[in-house]
Amino acid sequence: MISSKSNPRPFPVKTIPGQVSSRPGTRGNLPSLRRCQVVTPYPVVSAAWRLCTKGRFKPHTVLDLGAGDGRFALYGKYGSYLGYELDPKVRTLTLPRNAKIRCRDALEAKGEFELAIGNPPFMRVQDLDSLWRDRARRLIKQEAGVDPGPLGNLACYFLWFATLRTSADGRVCMVLPSDWIQKAATRALRSYILKHKWKVTLFELPSTVDFDIGKRANAGITLIEKNESCSTVSLVKLRADLRPRKGGGSRRLISTRGHSPRSDHLYAFRGLSPGSRNWFVLTEAERIEARIPLDAVWPAVGTLRPLPNTFTTLTRAAFTARYVRAGLRCWLLRTDSPGLDSAVRAWLDSVPKSIQENSTCGARAVWYDYTVPIPGKVLYSSAYSSSRGLKVVSNPSGVVHLGTVHAIHIGTPRQSPSRLVNYLKSWNFARGSVPWVGGMRRIEVGQMNSILSAYTESPRSAGR
Ligand SMILES: C[S@@+](CC[C@H](N)C(=O)[O-])C[C@H]1O[C@@H](n2cnc3c(N)ncnc32)[C@H](O)[C@@H]1O
Repeated sequence: MISSKSNPRPFPVKTIPGQVSSRPGTRGNLPSLRRCQVVTPYPVVSAAWRLCTKGRFKPHTVLDLGAGDGRFALYGKYGSYLGYELDPKVRTLTLPRNAKIRCRDALEAKGEFELAIGNPPFMRVQDLDSLWRDRARRLIKQEAGVDPGPLGNLACYFLWFATLRTSADGRVCMVLPSDWIQKAATRALRSYILKHKWKVTLFELPSTVDFDIGKRANAGITLIEKNESCSTVSLVKLRADLRPRKGGGSRRLISTRGHSPRSDHLYAFRGLSPGSRNWFVLTEAERIEARIPLDAVWPAVGTLRPLPNTFTTLTRAAFTARYVRAGLRCWLLRTDSPGLDSAVRAWLDSVPKSIQENSTCGARAVWYDYTVPIPGKVLYSSAYSSSRGLKVVSNPSGVVHLGTVHAIHIGTPRQSPSRLVNYLKSWNFARGSVPWVGGMRRIEVGQMNSILSAYTESPRSAGR
């Protein structure tokens, strides 16, 4: 057990009084500190040390933010190791004499270390306590002169602290999802790293690595070398023995520079998040039982999984067969019309308070009043399998896209949706994106906009 003082408040994890089975804004379980206490397998700890000490880098001082049982202290050669662990209930391993763990919030770490290593806690943005996040933002802004923004997940704030608590020629080596390199929410961190010309390497862990909870399978190892002034980002695959693949070289990531300005005529936009798929997107059976008429709902899809990869068009018939009759959630309530349908009104009256007050609904002037985006001419799944490629279809019947289904707006009649679909189907998306969960990859809106601007510039694209 870590011996120490009581925990400082606020806690990073949101606490929801009276909630037992759902996380507001998500479909998972109640957030708790326990949920982010993922233990790093020893071979990964050892690999992280090996990767970050290459080139005879021998750190005198080591910092571990979110140290857990202190397993990162058991490897590597160092002068001293200091871990920060918030939870006094976590049992510490027998540590070397030059290692110690403080039962404190990582926000309280001070000083400069030559190496920040570890596996920071991962918690989705929806589950972060806003007081803790505001404190973290203030601290980062004060020290880095940059507002990291409110939308990062917990691990991303820890990556910020790690860069702030390491010396000018130090290194950061963290086990965390590699997608921070492409998410819009972490743009400020990327710009900060780019400005300092630090070298970033993302090591992709093989699927054989078992974090024992399945969900964390998207973790990789991020290495930031501050002493290497070269501002490159490379993606390196690790073999089953966790050593870099021979001859694999490193790959450049799909550019995110196309984030701005996006073209007025052709751009990608993300799916609507109404605040609760279970309450705002109905199955056909629920719609009929609640007597909600078809003109009080929009056809909507939150996944393209039911469509075979060979599909190129989401026709109305395909929507009916593969979503409506298949019993999937496919009817988005029309809540924005001035005269709300009485059956929709009755349905909304039955929505639990925890949903009405979750981070998405609670932020609206009227908790259920979302603006439905104009349906895109093309839909694609932003999460895709690297072996099968991107799932992308034209959308002639105007189905609304939700969540990870993103859409492409085509503002000029000269652009043909089917030509764009064929172009995107032939694109090699496996080349430059970072791994996501369960062998899947993910493409961010900004990256798709980069591809679309290359498409617009290509003489064969515009139907000329
Ligand atoms: C993903 S676990 C990793 C534990 C250990 N480093 C390992 O690799 O096995 C992250 C740890 O961070 C701790 N933690 C969460 N929020 C924290 C905070 N604000 N300050 C310090 N530790 C925190 C959690 O209790 C958890 O033990």
